[in-house]
Amino acid sequence: MIAIVGGTGPEGSGLALRWARAGESVIIGSRDAERAKASAAKVAESVGHLGSVEGVDNVTAVKMCDTVVLTVPFAGQAELLKQLKPSFRPGTVLIDATVPLATAVGGRPTRVLGVWQGSAAEQAAELVGKNVTVAAAFHSLSSTVLHSDQPVDCDVIVCSDDERARQVASELATKIPGVRAIDGGKLENARIVEAMTALLITLNIRHKVHGAGWRVTGLGI
Ligand SMILES: NC(=O)c1ccc[n+]([C@@H]2O[C@H](COP(=O)([O-])OP(=O)(O)OC[C@H]3O[C@@H](n4cnc5c(N)ncnc54)[C@H](OP(=O)(O)O)[C@@H]3O)[C@@H](O)[C@H]2O)c1
Repeated sequence: MIAIVGGTGPEGSGLALRWARAGESVIIGSRDAERAKASAAKVAESVGHLGSVEGVDNVTAVKMCDTVVLTVPFAGQAELLKQLKPSFRPGTVLIDATVPLATAVGGRPTRVLGVWQGSAAEQAAELVGKNVTVAAAFHSLSSTVLHSDQPVDCDVIVCSDDERARQVASELATKIPGVRAIDGGKLENARIVEAMTALLITLNIRHKVHGAGWRVTGLGI
């Protein structure tokens, strides 16, 4: 089962939709259980009988699952993880999709903030402690594209210091038709991937689209 903390938003619900279509069991988490239930019902309706989708509060969601995906705004990431820390199962893989956009402090969505730990993902790793391993992934997947019926023409760069976390994140990425998972090395590289996502927002604005993504070439894979 995959928990998506902050799964009521466009990014989390888009991932939920894609994984439910792939037959996975998805738990949508929210600060408000009723909001999570409503969001889960919408996703379930759109996928029919394919996967199972449930909505619960964030704490219950992380207690239920060994794989947790985090899709909340950077402004709420630290406080939420502090609150959730005692509820993670030992050995949980946390996959962080947070982009530290400057909007968190009233700035532009085309800029990222400097994060003391180096990246939002490294901040997450520091906050959840050693019982939880962290991968950074899914930053490049536009919610608009995730909510469409089309294959996703985009690579997902996965960064982690832990091989199992990298593998779990990569397998989840490849469950989305069209997506290729690319090993992006250590978790510290998340700072580059997060910043590249702010560039994707610039590209969306300049080219008047909502689904800019990227493909890596020359890797022989
Ligand atoms: N949207 C995209 O296309 C996209 C693409 C790549 C990466 N991302 C990244 O993915 C993350 C989620 O994106 P999004 O567009 O789905 O964001 P969002 O709609 O702003 O937020 C997602 C969910 O997070 C919860 N939330 C909001 N503020 C919170 C806070 N202060 N503390 C705890 N929970 C809070 C809300 O759920 P409840 O109110 O139900 O708790 C909300 O529905 C962001 O970090 C974003 O940068 C987004």
